[in-house]
Amino acid sequence: MTTTAIKGGTVIDQTGTRRADVLVTDDGTVLAVGEGLDGDRTLDATDCVVSPGLVDLHVHLRQPGKEEAETIETGARGAALGGFTSVVAMPNTTPAMDCASVVREVIDLAADTICDVRPSAAITVGRDGESLTPMAELVKLGVRIFTDDGTGVQDDRLMRTALEYAGSLAHLSGGQPIVLAQHCEVNALSEGTYMHEGEWSSRLGIPGQPSESEELMVMRDIALARLTGTRVHFQHMSTAGSVAMIRAAKAAGLPVTAEAATHHFCLTDACCADYDPLFKVHPPLRTDADVAAVKEGLADGTIDAIATDHAPHTPQDKERTFADAPPGMLGLETAFAIANTHLDIPIESLLAAMSWRPAAIAGLQADHGGPIVEGSPANLAIIDPNTTWTVSGDAMASRSNNTPYEGMAVRGRTRHTILKGEAVVIDGEAQR
Ligand code: DOR
Repeated sequence: MTTTAIKGGTVIDQTGTRRADVLVTDDGTVLAVGEGLDGDRTLDATDCVVSPGLVDLHVHLRQPGKEEAETIETGARGAALGGFTSVVAMPNTTPAMDCASVVREVIDLAADTICDVRPSAAITVGRDGESLTPMAELVKLGVRIFTDDGTGVQDDRLMRTALEYAGSLAHLSGGQPIVLAQHCEVNALSEGTYMHEGEWSSRLGIPGQPSESEELMVMRDIALARLTGTRVHFQHMSTAGSVAMIRAAKAAGLPVTAEAATHHFCLTDACCADYDPLFKVHPPLRTDADVAAVKEGLADGTIDAIATDHAPHTPQDKERTFADAPPGMLGLETAFAIANTHLDIPIESLLAAMSWRPAAIAGLQADHGGPIVEGSPANLAIIDPNTTWTVSGDAMASRSNNTPYEGMAVRGRTRHTILKGEAVVIDGEAQR
């Protein structure tokens, strides 16, 4: 057994904040937390927070099908560099993750990666909104989150049936909730649009989708959560109206949770002014007022989690015209820094939104996000919140380089990441 002492940092977890060293073993557990600990090797955590590893509910790793943009291995490497010890892979692969064989393939590809990649699965076969996937079989394989992400389930009755069905499956998951995560977008209002509908879309002559495209589906799914009693998780909430509805739904005690993507609290539709497809994303970048509402939602806990919606696309794809280029932007390696730079919330709240709350939503608490105590799993992020650096897409581990933050100065960076006791990132370098 080899031990590693993480020395000189400030431990922050859901139980509080304290100065302590952390001793981990390569069998994957925390051996001790306290003063003056020594191990076979030492990782310096001076000026750093030592947190449960970050957890991302929303990443696109493109495998199978689009390996030229990302693979599970390269995406996991980027995740580890960003301080993530677990990420939930979205099912809009080719073929879609809508059946046992594709989900098994993803699980196999993720077996030895330096971040714990968990598969989600589609709600509907082929994500085409017509018929439900074999959810029970997929739950037995370990799937806890179902989503047609990239598109929302348009049909009201099918969404109701999916919720009723999901609500009956907890006996197959050891009591862990099965979560239906929704990409809220009413196609009838968004078809043929490429950005947010507002002042900037008018100026640029780019067809825009109104906020109501998202909000009508948020409204419907809050109603369906009430009707069925099954939890709905709202993905990448981007409008002030959505945040207000989720706040009211929570106040009414409904089973809803929500995430915001990093770009939706620091970029606006004004970024599209030069027709640069790097700023094309779904849901689209919105207005200053929407950004302020998303930030407020994060500050008051209406929005539970920060996600990346990491969406790699090859340079060839992103160099097409604004209308033709695919939507999406990289996020894994910049997420903590963007949140730390742009949100005015205590670091404890930031880590809650990036670690223990998303871990709880995804049913990962046994492995990720839990308190750092003797005997707990050694999945940790050691982050210097004050170091500044400049973002470069080409320097990232991702196979793609479509970051919207190119050249931007940001604050906060992962120094080390520990996965199952192994130092998979040391001094900002992935070890394999
Ligand atoms: O911008 C986006 N890109 N939004 C999505 O919902 C899908 C994602 C992708 O897969 O590229």
